[in-house]
Amino acid sequence: MMAKMAASVLEHGEDAFRKLFKFYKRRNPPPDFGDVIDFSKNVKNDMVFSVELNPSALSEADASRAGLRPVKDWRAFGLKGHSGFVFISNPFLPGSQHHWVRQCLKTYPQKPNVCNLDMHMSPSETEDIWNKSADILRKKNQGKREPKTLLEKLRWVTLGYHYDWNSKTYSADHYTQFPPDLHSLSREVAAACGFHGFAAEAGILNYYRADSSLGIHVDESELDHSRPLLSFSFGQTAVFLLGGTRREDPATPMFMHSGDIMVMSGPSRLLYHAVPCIVPAPAGQPLPACLLDTQQTTGLHTGSLVQAVPTEDWELCSRYLHTSRVNMTVRQVLGDGQAFPTETTSIRSEVSPKDGYHEKHGQEEEDLKAKRKRNDSGYDLDS
Ligand code: OGA
Ligand code: MN
Repeated sequence: MMAKMAASVLEHGEDAFRKLFKFYKRRNPPPDFGDVIDFSKNVKNDMVFSVELNPSALSEADASRAGLRPVKDWRAFGLKGHSGFVFISNPFLPGSQHHWVRQCLKTYPQKPNVCNLDMHMSPSETEDIWNKSADILRKKNQGKREPKTLLEKLRWVTLGYHYDWNSKTYSADHYTQFPPDLHSLSREVAAACGFHGFAAEAGILNYYRADSSLGIHVDESELDHSRPLLSFSFGQTAVFLLGGTRREDPATPMFMHSGDIMVMSGPSRLLYHAVPCIVPAPAGQPLPACLLDTQQTTGLHTGSLVQAVPTEDWELCSRYLHTSRVNMTVRQVLGDGQAFPTETTSIRSEVSPKDGYHEKHGQEEEDLKAKRKRNDSGYDLDS
């Protein structure tokens, strides 16, 4: 019944994307997920086809160093009509997602990286988010209403060229070193997809709680759109909506499970997309099975990007992920040999504010009416 509803919304034309977004964002009653493509299962959908990646584009040794399975074992998919879009169903080796989760929760939020909390707190207050939250979170008993820790209030972190949410630009003078481990992972994944020499220059990490969403937008602030955009998902499953080049184009819903990687390249680099909801975990199974895998400490040799996560760190990561999703998006901002334009010739993003990043985080009109506390970039700190 509801599956039919999703289908009719799809055909509706003009406002199809917004309607589909609202359909999946609805909480009461929860939406029917029957139409959502699940790449982790045998996909029965006319739009989906298998993508053969070139196994020699990335050596098994380099893949393993980055915590990835050999490329010949990856399950990659494309969507008809969306050339350049590649969905890789969890190519991580058992136990190696732990490292990236710990980096997102403990390492990457540290200075000099920038996070949403910096918008209204002093640097000393946002120093050491992990340690300031750890003891409280470990003792916290679920269900009880207690003040949120900084880790629970974290909504985004920027890396490398720090994205300016107001001007919707990157600039040469707001850059700090991009994390070398994520730089390497990104280069390996891009290479496996045929993009050699990918240079991760900017990253946006998104932290989703059970009721978070990400509005309809295009990522166009990067100056070279011939380079792919990579997206990594960890923790709870979310619905991803992939639309067209126009905001009103219909969208295709798909699940993003822990470990899944998406590559948006070529004609798909500038497609509208959104994350309308986090999917409630099945009762009795708060963490996906791939995160229960024990870490492959034996496979870790010198030169490996992926470090073993100490048990006490993982306990906290795991507790956080019971109700959260973490997403890393990695971008190359400049083409090879390209530089930022000078002040006077600076190209500003032409999108209307509604299409831009600034309003993209849970910024539907209903939310605005809800008078919740917001930080300076439109994130809802209370959700
Ligand atoms: C983004 C984005 C999608 C996601 O940060 O631009 O689209 O899966 N993220 O969280
Ligand atoms: Mn995006």
